[in-house]
Amino acid sequence: MPQAAPPTVLCDAAAVATEAPARVEREGTAYAVFLLGERHYVTQDACTHGPGSLSEGTIDGEEVECPFHQGRFHIPTGRPTAPPCTEKLRVWPARLIDGRVCIDRE
Ligand code: FES
Repeated sequence: MPQAAPPTVLCDAAAVATEAPARVEREGTAYAVFLLGERHYVTQDACTHGPGSLSEGTIDGEEVECPFHQGRFHIPTGRPTAPPCTEKLRVWPARLIDGRVCIDRE
């Protein structure tokens, strides 16, 4: 029976603030780690519209506004909520393990 891959550790939970998401690169992929309320969320960092980095975006409720053309996404689902963004973000369920934000990449 194949063993499940170990979780990928992204960062210390304490390194993420609601107003200051974290950008983390692992094996060629850039992730944005968000804190909304008490919960962490992980999306791809790259905006689906262009070169914007969503970890540098502005948080408004459960949405992030891309700093490049001000498109928006719903962080928990990755759904685009304002133009020019039309393509969904990839999202990964985040887990806290020993105070660190982890994801299962597959
Ligand atoms: S690059 Fe993000 S809205 Fe254009």
